[in-house]
Amino acid sequence: MNHVKKVFPGVQALKDVSLELRAGEVHALLGENGAGKSTLIKILGGIYTANAGEIRIHGKPVAIGSVQDAHKNGISVIHQELVLVPRMTVAENIFLGREPETPRKTVDFKKMNREAAKILDSFELGIEPDKEVGALTIAQQQMVEIIKALSFNAKILVMDEPTSSLSEKDVGFLFGTIRKLKANGVGIIYISHRMRELEQITDRITVIRDGEYIGTRDTAATGSDELIAMMVGRQLTNYYTRTFGEPRDPVLEVRGLSDGKLLKDISFTLRKGEILGFAGLVGAGRSEVMKCVFGIDPITRGEIFVEGKKAVITSPEDALGLGIALVPESRKLEALFPEQSVMFNLTLKVLGAFIRGVFVDFEKEAAITRDYVEAMGIKTPSYTQVAGNLSGGNQQKVVIARWLATKPRILILDEPTRGVDVGAKAEIYGIMNNLVQEGVSIIMISSELPEVINMSDRVIVMSGGGITECLPREGLTQEAIMRCATRHAGGMNTEGEHHD
Ligand SMILES: Nc1ncnc2c1ncn2[C@@H]1O[C@H](COP(=O)(O)OP(=O)(O)OP(=O)(O)O)[C@@H](O)[C@H]1O
Ligand SMILES: [Mg+2]
Repeated sequence: MNHVKKVFPGVQALKDVSLELRAGEVHALLGENGAGKSTLIKILGGIYTANAGEIRIHGKPVAIGSVQDAHKNGISVIHQELVLVPRMTVAENIFLGREPETPRKTVDFKKMNREAAKILDSFELGIEPDKEVGALTIAQQQMVEIIKALSFNAKILVMDEPTSSLSEKDVGFLFGTIRKLKANGVGIIYISHRMRELEQITDRITVIRDGEYIGTRDTAATGSDELIAMMVGRQLTNYYTRTFGEPRDPVLEVRGLSDGKLLKDISFTLRKGEILGFAGLVGAGRSEVMKCVFGIDPITRGEIFVEGKKAVITSPEDALGLGIALVPESRKLEALFPEQSVMFNLTLKVLGAFIRGVFVDFEKEAAITRDYVEAMGIKTPSYTQVAGNLSGGNQQKVVIARWLATKPRILILDEPTRGVDVGAKAEIYGIMNNLVQEGVSIIMISSELPEVINMSDRVIVMSGGGITECLPREGLTQEAIMRCATRHAGGMNTEGEHHD
């Protein structure tokens, strides 16, 4: 791709970006949130048309005006946002637009399911072809998305943050697949904010910043400090900001909580002004606990106390009323209104602050928006920009800001830095540190162990729906956490309780 330019109303997303991909290499595309990574690969994938520049494949200029054109040219893209249709089955999603037909020109569902089963089996994922995609976990949906892209037998495969919600095991599996494809001469463009992954799997790295090409480096010969400096245009110091204080009174106590499904006898205490980390493998039940505490999912047993008083939480409104806020894991699916403006999305939970009856205080609304856009460094051309048009990382910041605006006393963050760039991560850590110093208490679910270790006062580790350990900050290591995360939860009788 040579000298590609792309203009959106109010934003020049790509000013002049070039990218060279070789056969059989994994090439990382690295840059801050909003740098233009997804835009560039959407041009390659036929979703957007560039305003200038050219695409050459094996030296020949090609015109890619549609997704079908991209497929014809051997290009397959796994997009950052899941684009599966939730109401359709796994097989229907994989074969969407190229369904096998019966002699009577109707869709041959039998054949489709058979073919899909063949592909799914070869990946040993235990996903049924006739299951509705909406019923799968986010990680499973992401795997279906990956499998779908692979099923095109593309020569150029693009992955835009493919691992954002995968477990270690699935990431290992994906990397195995990538190595096989490489050996077969497939060229892979790989986008991720996880530097460790880039070191593991990529051969070269191209950095872009604010829609400009900055440079291309051999991964093996380049340190992450240099890459970060290329990305953000300066050295980044004080990555983790954290001032630790003395332990204070409990603000939230959960005792013996069960949900009748996965969770068994969950008890923990959150103290005022602390960050309580929640670690564990994907599927350990961390998000499920928080959904119960926040009133999204019902509990079958157990009690919750807020500031010493027994709390009845049967809906998110109840939780909000008690000063609890939850920033969910899947911002896109559970939270963002992509058709609405940045301002709408950001002020959604604090309408009372600027609406009195039929009077809307527009200045107040804009002021709230400005505060958080500035504090979180949200990159948007205006407050009225449609939220779905922001880059993936900036969409996440909008959703986090929405909950911060409620000024919660207890803030639950589920994977707060997933998909955000290093600069924004540092900003989010700084904000978290400020909040706890102001006396807010934070629960942080995170799969990024360095983040858990550096930011938490204490860490609760979950496994198989139970708590295995509560680790103090002193002597916290990745190994200690992983050991607890793979251990069976607390000697509880887990078999006897379940009859399904
Ligand atoms: N459809 C659109 N309409 C208007 N602006 C857009 C659109 N898509 C992207 N943009 C803008 O273009 C810029 C680049 O966005 P892009 O999604 O390519 O960033 P990115 O590098 O993928 O970031 P992230 O790491 O957050 O995913 C951003 O400023 C974004 O707001
Ligand atoms: Mg993106």
